[in-house]
Amino acid sequence: MNIDSPAADGARADSPAIDLRVRITDALTLANPVSTASGTYGKGIEFQSFYDVSRLGSVVVKTITTEPREGNPPPRLAELPAGLLNSIGLANPGVDVYIAEVLPKLRTLGAALVINVAGHSVEDFGVLVAKFAQEDGIAALELNMSCPNVSSGLDYSTDPKVARQVLERVRGETDLPLIAKLSPNVTDIRPIGEAVVAGGADAISAINTLVGMAVDWRKRRPVLGRGYGGVSGPCIKAVALRLVRLLYETVDVPIFGIGGLQDADDAMEYFLAGASCIQVGTSNYYRPTVALDILEGLPERIASLGASSLQEIVGTLQMP
Ligand code: FUM
Repeated sequence: MNIDSPAADGARADSPAIDLRVRITDALTLANPVSTASGTYGKGIEFQSFYDVSRLGSVVVKTITTEPREGNPPPRLAELPAGLLNSIGLANPGVDVYIAEVLPKLRTLGAALVINVAGHSVEDFGVLVAKFAQEDGIAALELNMSCPNVSSGLDYSTDPKVARQVLERVRGETDLPLIAKLSPNVTDIRPIGEAVVAGGADAISAINTLVGMAVDWRKRRPVLGRGYGGVSGPCIKAVALRLVRLLYETVDVPIFGIGGLQDADDAMEYFLAGASCIQVGTSNYYRPTVALDILEGLPERIASLGASSLQEIVGTLQMP
């Protein structure tokens, strides 16, 4: 899927002409860098009543697993002072029902569709990728190697050897671009980034949530039914920006920056740090138009740096 228009797709009529296109692989160029983070945007269809979702560069949908999953015991969400704690537990109908019943609706979204999958073993990742590889209308696959809310969910992006095995297992199943979604819950993210690229990843998403906990001291219990969960939202942006920068300095593939994005200024911070694209997550819950608002705010900000394309500013942060 190549989107050839050099115009800033989705830009307002009075915006400066800025080329927002992002090349992911030879076969996939996104019209613009704005995407949605898996698990925070439903199936995308729900957002059609707020704006034309096809204006986004891509849409990443909630994780699919081989078997249906009910998810974790409630409560599954806790609000934090500047973020959200979740332990959904990858609730989803399973790949076969998803392909039969959900995928046909997603094909009507118009934006490049990124399907997110999570295996419970390296082999499981292979099975999922093989199934989606047979389907039309998918722009890329994002591998959820970093869910903190299911048993062994973090194993795939905390050990470089295992991370590479996942990519090597799935790479032979498809020519679709593969995006490895990494965890911040490591001492050093750089060897993990190197491992997934060596295994065949075309791009990296960084970051998934940080493991955390909320406590109801009166009940002497954690707030979440499963105890621990994943922290997202504005409180993790500073952590994510650093990890995006470290990855940018380490690997030579496009990075989708994720974590605490609320406006176009946040997106600019990610681009300068080294992200080629951004995924908007938790803020979708309280401002459903946030992804479109970010997109519309980009041309004037990029122009203010004297650039005429997004590509010119990616990674240009001047580190001390
Ligand atoms: O619990 C969940 O479904 C979260 C998934 C994730 O963070 O990858």
